[in-house]
Amino acid sequence: ARPSGPGRYEVTQRVAAAEILPGSRTEVWGYGGTFPGPTFELRRGTPVTIAVRNELPVPTSTHLHGGVTPPGSDGYPTDLVVPAGHSTRHGHPGEVHHQVVKDYRYPVEQRAATLWYHDHRMDFTAPQVWRGLAGMALVRDEEEDALPLPRGERELPLMICDRSFEEDGSFRYPQAYSAHGGAHGGMHGGMHGGDWLGLDGDYMEGVEGDVILVNGAPWPVAEVAAARYRLRLLNASNARRYRLQLTPGGRFTQIGSDSGLLAAPVAHDTIPISPGERYDVVVDFSAYPVGSAVTLVNTLAEGMQRNVMRFVVTRAARDDSAVPATLSRPPRRPRPVATRTFDFRRTGESWTINAKPYRPGVPLARPRLGTAEVWRLTSDFHHPVHLHLAHFQILARNGRAPAATDGGWKDTVDVRPYEVVDVLARFDGHRGRYMLHCHNLEHEDMAMMADFEVI
Ligand code: C2O
Ligand code: CU
Ligand code: CU
Repeated sequence: ARPSGPGRYEVTQRVAAAEILPGSRTEVWGYGGTFPGPTFELRRGTPVTIAVRNELPVPTSTHLHGGVTPPGSDGYPTDLVVPAGHSTRHGHPGEVHHQVVKDYRYPVEQRAATLWYHDHRMDFTAPQVWRGLAGMALVRDEEEDALPLPRGERELPLMICDRSFEEDGSFRYPQAYSAHGGAHGGMHGGMHGGDWLGLDGDYMEGVEGDVILVNGAPWPVAEVAAARYRLRLLNASNARRYRLQLTPGGRFTQIGSDSGLLAAPVAHDTIPISPGERYDVVVDFSAYPVGSAVTLVNTLAEGMQRNVMRFVVTRAARDDSAVPATLSRPPRRPRPVATRTFDFRRTGESWTINAKPYRPGVPLARPRLGTAEVWRLTSDFHHPVHLHLAHFQILARNGRAPAATDGGWKDTVDVRPYEVVDVLARFDGHRGRYMLHCHNLEHEDMAMMADFEVI
């Protein structure tokens, strides 16, 4: 995306046609009319305003995931941009802001990191993201510029997600949402609590598609040189988890987590990635013979869904890049001033936090600005737990040391069935109203969300 003026971008959300499956036409709801939306390049210390204009048939709310953003621009679920030419009559009763263009202001004071943005409308996030409302945003800074990491065409943001398609090429999303509408009479599907279960209990675990897309393309091929590449992996799926592996073998050198560079690189054979998480990795394609194909697979799936994408090493090349032994000096772990527990569990017909379905405006916690707290996350299922504003480190899983892939500062953590995950979260940057929620987007829409207020 290119700025339309100093520090200013304009992006229109609109309905557009895309050729996702060869020879067929898919209607997408896209930022800028594309799926994924444009990749924004942001620089630490350079604030930007992104004016989002809504020409879709539904209200939206845009969230910069991983952003340290003031509350008024954070994509609160009822803080809506309404469609040009529509009223809010069909909306949620809490939908209060009646604007067709909203200026989202991002101070961009945070470290270099791989962020993404997506819709966050109350009760309808899952179907609206499924239709295409997501894209990536990269924050860069001087600390990172000074490193000899692969860059330019050897840096690939990879947004991985799954979708299903109807025979006519349109996105297929369960009728439960799209035909009956949300519990609050929304126009284009959504769910809240029992609405959902009553229609089809099959989707309690979230909606998975049977076609895996990378940057909106099924099973794509990237031609690469025999050199190091930086892959910024994002799982933008509604509910699908992946465990990524390279075949015929090879390692990922992890250089960054959700919220920026690690202190030092870590090598992994496989990378587990749950919805909302990012892994910034380097893969050295000079380890493979020229002419060979390297497949990125998901070992959690079978058949066609196992294949994510392919790299074909087409040529020998000079490579001046390197992964230094010291990457950055991330913020140190502060001392926590409080401990709180958040239990992610099904309660009756809803997915809830501490047995409460989401109620906007009712914070479950009031951490103080500039402090850190231990948040203990417990669960009955796989819940990728995400905090707005606050970045955290994983201290322990079930009282034991976290996994090698849990390192660094993060904003999303996969809490696995019956696990107890302790994270140390810092509340920095802004006071105000934020959310924590499950990033399984169907769970989020089924009320597994809560406000917290930084005071
Ligand atoms: Cu990526 Cu509140 O979400
Ligand atoms: Cu977020
Ligand atoms: Cu969940």
